[in-house]
Amino acid sequence: MHKDLNTLPELLLDWYDRAARDLPWRTGPKARAEGQRPDPYRVWLSEIMLQQTTVPHAARYFAEFTRRWPTVEALAEAEDADVMAAWAGLGYYARARNLLKCAREVAALGAFPETEADLLKLPGIGPYTAGAIAAIAFDQRAAAVDGNVDRVFARLLALKGEWKAEKKVVAETVRELVPNMRSGEFAEALMDLGATICTPKSPNCLICPLSELCMARAEGDPDRYPVKPAKLKKPTRRGAAFVLIDGGEVLLERRPNKGLLGGMVGLPGSVWAEDGDAGVAKAPAEADWREIGEVRHVFTHFSLELTVWRADLNGERPDGLWTPLGEVSGLPSVFGKAWALARS
Ligand code: ADE
Repeated sequence: MHKDLNTLPELLLDWYDRAARDLPWRTGPKARAEGQRPDPYRVWLSEIMLQQTTVPHAARYFAEFTRRWPTVEALAEAEDADVMAAWAGLGYYARARNLLKCAREVAALGAFPETEADLLKLPGIGPYTAGAIAAIAFDQRAAAVDGNVDRVFARLLALKGEWKAEKKVVAETVRELVPNMRSGEFAEALMDLGATICTPKSPNCLICPLSELCMARAEGDPDRYPVKPAKLKKPTRRGAAFVLIDGGEVLLERRPNKGLLGGMVGLPGSVWAEDGDAGVAKAPAEADWREIGEVRHVFTHFSLELTVWRADLNGERPDGLWTPLGEVSGLPSVFGKAWALARS
């Protein structure tokens, strides 16, 4: 290891004492110094929400979830449909199903396990999240290495090699650096550094507590790190969504548990595919369909162009979740956009 890096934990924690972000799931350095401990339920819930979501977006959902389900036991007893609807808009709906499964396992165990290895056995908890919870909630000497930490260390060490191999270097380096004391705050401090100073574009090296250690800074062009292979362009899929109205109600459907937006309530529609059908062939009923426009949504592996059709029913009602127009809620974002368009 770069020998100066031994001073990193102290520099970082001193900075954290001054600059820690005040976040709703966090027990800050002052409170910790006064002996307060984080609530493992809140730490776990926030980490699951923050996988793939920004802090401000997650914070809104965090407030609502902890208001409705203040403990893991309360969440374990919730109805699946209520939790799925409350999750709508956060994306990656398999995570919401795993969230419930995990809550139920933890409630059955009586408490969250405290070690990385035991946390890893729970549904929805991968290596990053296990490390983060073990460190933040239980002050275990565990590392939480996500894309932000990868970026910080790619710069610190000016890593120029093949990115997959360099990520292993980062993980090992961070693991070695985690201090015995304050390991949770070490993890939180790295998150804050990546979010507020060592940002993807235009890092603010002038105020960085680690600038003296940083090899990318010494080279003069920290922006060039991390050096990653070019991303493949996302394919575009197309499809149709149908807004069928009858007697002040709209036809919705619950999607199958497996697959994209699994278990969520949505509008009926065609299969989304690169050569997908944006017409009315897959409409849930024969009717006088009017095309009202198109919505776009970006998923992890593809972009979607969804043509939205609307009609009033003039025959027999097809089966489905007929929902009063004023009570439509809990739709995933893409259907929320389509619904907003249909109502406008
Ligand atoms: N990103 C992932 N986990 C986080 C946390 N606990 N606080 C802020 N950002 C995060």
